[in-house]
Amino acid sequence: MFFAKNKWAGYFFRDFPHPSAVFFQKLRRRKSSNIQFQTLESMKCIIINGPNLNMLGQREPGVYGHESMEHVVCRLRESFATRGIEIEFFQSNHEGALIDRLQQAWAEGCDGVVLNAGAYTHTSIALHDAIRAIAPIPVVEVHISNVHQREAFRHTSLISAACRGVICGFGTDSYRLAIEALAQMPGE
Ligand code: DQA
Repeated sequence: MFFAKNKWAGYFFRDFPHPSAVFFQKLRRRKSSNIQFQTLESMKCIIINGPNLNMLGQREPGVYGHESMEHVVCRLRESFATRGIEIEFFQSNHEGALIDRLQQAWAEGCDGVVLNAGAYTHTSIALHDAIRAIAPIPVVEVHISNVHQREAFRHTSLISAACRGVICGFGTDSYRLAIEALAQMPGE
């Protein structure tokens, strides 16, 4: 009552809030900045491409399109950077090099892998084992073409069972969809 009537009271409490109010205000600010930090925290994922995918743009354009992989990666890096998603890229024509890169991704603490193993998809138990070995890092199997509409030997994947999910048949957009899936995947 006294303070309500006192013209200095409003001034005093506005400029010198009670210490407990300051404490709770700081706590609230810290909490909200943590939330902001979490959503903007960078996520590191890697696209690993297998044999012949370095020929994208030139290789069977009727099946794989005209866009080069450099262009695809550039486009993806640009559009995901604003969401704090960092995209590494690796391509090799050699099975062992793909396995080494998967293991390296694990050692680096990578958050997710997008794997287009090319023809090794249909033949490689070693890649299957490597994907299992780097668990719990989620690996999304990707194919540019819809392998199920193609030759019978492409209908079998030896890596699908080890992967978190499979995206195929959306052209080079399959890579974007896979990263989107990784970004929305709840952590282990
Ligand atoms: C591919 C499909 C595979 O069957 C093929 O061997 C490739 C590319 C795709 O992206 O559609 O090299 O993985």
